[in-house]
Amino acid sequence: MRLRTGLALPFGVLLACSPGLGCRPASPAERLAREIAGAYPERAAPTGVVRTFDIEAREAELPLVDGGKLRVWAYNGQVPGPELRIRLGETLRVRFTNRLPQPTTIHWHGVRVPNGMDGVPSVTQPPVEPGATFVYEFTPKDAGTFWFHPHVRSSEQVERGLYGVLIVEDRAPAPYARDVVWVLDDWLLDETRQIFGAFNTPHDLMHDGRWGNFVTVNGRRDTALAVRGGERIRLRLLNASNARIYAPDFGALEPQVIAVDGLYLARPIPLGRFELAPGNRLDLDITLPSAPASRSIPVVDTFYGNMPNHLADVVIDGAAAGPPPRFPSPAHARVPSWSAGLSIPPTKEFHLDARRGGSYGIEWTINGQAFAGHEHHAPPMLTMDRGGWVRLRFINDSYRLHPIHLHGMFFRLLARNGAPVDEPFFRDTVLMHSKETIDIGLVPLDAGKWMMHCHILEHAEAGMMTLFEVRG
Ligand code: C2O
Ligand code: CU
Repeated sequence: MRLRTGLALPFGVLLACSPGLGCRPASPAERLAREIAGAYPERAAPTGVVRTFDIEAREAELPLVDGGKLRVWAYNGQVPGPELRIRLGETLRVRFTNRLPQPTTIHWHGVRVPNGMDGVPSVTQPPVEPGATFVYEFTPKDAGTFWFHPHVRSSEQVERGLYGVLIVEDRAPAPYARDVVWVLDDWLLDETRQIFGAFNTPHDLMHDGRWGNFVTVNGRRDTALAVRGGERIRLRLLNASNARIYAPDFGALEPQVIAVDGLYLARPIPLGRFELAPGNRLDLDITLPSAPASRSIPVVDTFYGNMPNHLADVVIDGAAAGPPPRFPSPAHARVPSWSAGLSIPPTKEFHLDARRGGSYGIEWTINGQAFAGHEHHAPPMLTMDRGGWVRLRFINDSYRLHPIHLHGMFFRLLARNGAPVDEPFFRDTVLMHSKETIDIGLVPLDAGKWMMHCHILEHAEAGMMTLFEVRG
């Protein structure tokens, strides 16, 4: 652990002290590192309760999209997969069996797990071969909305239907009338209304990955959330698409954002326009009107404002018993601003681009390197010290979209194209637009080898992945 003991002196000078070396004034990066204290727990606090789930990945035929029989790959025969709900402090044990015709793994997106449970093939575990089993076991450190999906050939396996939500409830959950999950996905179906069987096509690779022709919420195009007027609900959104970005618009409902990528905000903020990229989660606190102008409120995606997509409906049926309950939205004790971090030079820069070559004809690269899937033993592109503050700069040299995702740690977005951005929350995934440069700040707290990749799964599959190592 390299977080040094800090001493706050009267006039605000911080000292960095290390055994045998004495004390000196803390450097700017050391001061920023200390701001992580209290932002989220450094380690898990297991209560001793173990929650065991059996999960099997196998082929299935399900009435998805419009009710037709869709041949998919599914966890426990369901798409979305089973909703795993545990309480903070409980240990999750998943006995996983692979009944697919391919090797696979489960990655716990956004969960700060011990490195060996991260589900990255040949890096944190061998791939789970067809017929084989693997036990995932860990105690989440954070309450929130997380998800799980394969990390082997994910552009095919996630697209075929392998994903599920993991909800870690607070020790004492806030008294929402309902706590509901909406998993957003899109499907590219062929003329027989089955999953289009060509993956990682040159078209997908040259553009923003595979965008489907049917958008679903919880697997259906007719999802309607039945609520009562005056109720206060918690709605958790997950984008499980390979590539499609959503900007959910709730019309007159005016949701408040209480969590992004699992973690609570310092205080709720109005939804406004939020670009929900693949991998992102958004937890909303919505109070339904008691006398709505209309009983059915459509929720649409306005990412491309000129062609909104209908996602689902909120249907208000009857009035609630009393006035909306008053309780504070759950919030997070501390979210460091790290605005001073922009005056420190970036620790490292990453250039994102494409070139001809590789097994798909096009490769997506990070600093000129394409991760070929068998380079797990290559040296990590970045080595960080546990507990140290770093600023990373990502430069999109391409015209395409790249939702950048880091395993094993949360970060704050500091700037877009050099202009400071003040998002009062952490993320594990951030969307980069065409030719954009972003800066992020973070303090890694868990040792191990963690992936950094684009969550447009076709881009990742074609090379836009690399490893970061956290020492300590
Ligand atoms: Cu959902 Cu490597 O990520
Ligand atoms: Cu990308």
